[in-house]
Amino acid sequence: MALKIFDFDELFTFKAAAARDGRRVSQKDLSPLKSARLVSVDGKILWLGPKKQFKASLLKPWGGVRAFEQVNLSGFLALPAFVECHSHLVFAGSRHGEFEQRNQGVSYEQIAKQGGGIISTVKATRRASESELLALAQERAIKFLSQGVTVLEVKSGYGLNQSSELKLLKVAGQIQGPQIVPTFLGAHALPPEFSDVDSYLDYLEQKVLPLVKRRGLAQRIDIFWDKGYFHSPRALKFLLQAQKMGFAICAHVDQLHSLGGVKSLLELASVSLDHVVQLTDPDITRIARSQSTAVLLPGADFYLRMKYPPARRLLEEGARCALATDFNPGSCPTQDLSLIGVLARLEMKMTLPEVLVAYTYGAAAALGLQADFGSLEVGKSCDFVCFNAGLEELFYSVGHHPVKGVWHRGQQVYAH
Ligand code: NIG
Ligand code: FE
Repeated sequence: MALKIFDFDELFTFKAAAARDGRRVSQKDLSPLKSARLVSVDGKILWLGPKKQFKASLLKPWGGVRAFEQVNLSGFLALPAFVECHSHLVFAGSRHGEFEQRNQGVSYEQIAKQGGGIISTVKATRRASESELLALAQERAIKFLSQGVTVLEVKSGYGLNQSSELKLLKVAGQIQGPQIVPTFLGAHALPPEFSDVDSYLDYLEQKVLPLVKRRGLAQRIDIFWDKGYFHSPRALKFLLQAQKMGFAICAHVDQLHSLGGVKSLLELASVSLDHVVQLTDPDITRIARSQSTAVLLPGADFYLRMKYPPARRLLEEGARCALATDFNPGSCPTQDLSLIGVLARLEMKMTLPEVLVAYTYGAAAALGLQADFGSLEVGKSCDFVCFNAGLEELFYSVGHHPVKGVWHRGQQVYAH
């Protein structure tokens, strides 16, 4: 049994932010505790509070204080660990050529029409072996872990046929370090073998989804709901079928065009709505009143030089928002959390507490994991990150993210 006592000078638990379900948060909702103590048993928080309120008798059932390992983390700032709720981590190849093309004025959509974009990564990824993909994905996962990410969502979507999609999900399942949440994104783009969307969705529904389910490779499915991708009544039917099979739904929606996807996806209880750049006024109100989380991906808007989602309006109407990198080789080839946080503040006018809650509790909620992650409270997972900086130094300087150590389920998983 792993028994630990952690002592901190300054610990932010985000308890009040969690009590507000991550909505309309401000500085006080970060719930700071000075001279704090946290006790964990087998990776779960047993007790947490000001050190002077701690009573040793609490630990009697576990053999008393002496049975516990004591970890002194004074001198550091501690926060709930980050959750990266939207990443396309498993791929081969690079799209630096497209970056140059976009810079010369060719659009993301034009590049896709010429056979580049997602399909060019599909070609490279299909060619790569499982072990090559795992080596690439593993290194990227550690890059997230080193920034304080202990829960990492990983999408498939660069296979687009049965064997390659299953290969990507198998790779996701073998990644070590952060807890991985795999998502099946077969409906990412139309693969070259199919000439129409409906027959590809038939194929996914009849051949691939049942295998993903049977082998337990993913419990969630995602779709790219946009013009030129998937947005028809057939696409809705596909999602309904997936839901019937027990998959949770999430979606890339209204990134490039406003196609009314938000309304349809909310009717399906989509656990998150990602990108949400092209929102109408009624969409904003719908999201704010829903249980779904709006996942904002400013790194993609930055790289594609597009407009940013209406974050302020979403937040002020009471939506729960998350932030994530959307790391992928095309629209966001960076894993840098500090850049995402700076863009959120600079371009979407999110406050620092809003950014911090969006990258913890909000992101956990986007994965349906807020009962375990996203804040530090009794019964939740003992996942936290220590910084060698004051709180206000975070998400201000791109590249400055001075993590000293990362703990996942009460174990130190990264040290600088
Ligand atoms: O989230 N929008 C769709 N999918 C990715 C981009 C994938 C790619 O360009 O390879 C995104 O931005
Ligand atoms: Fe994405």
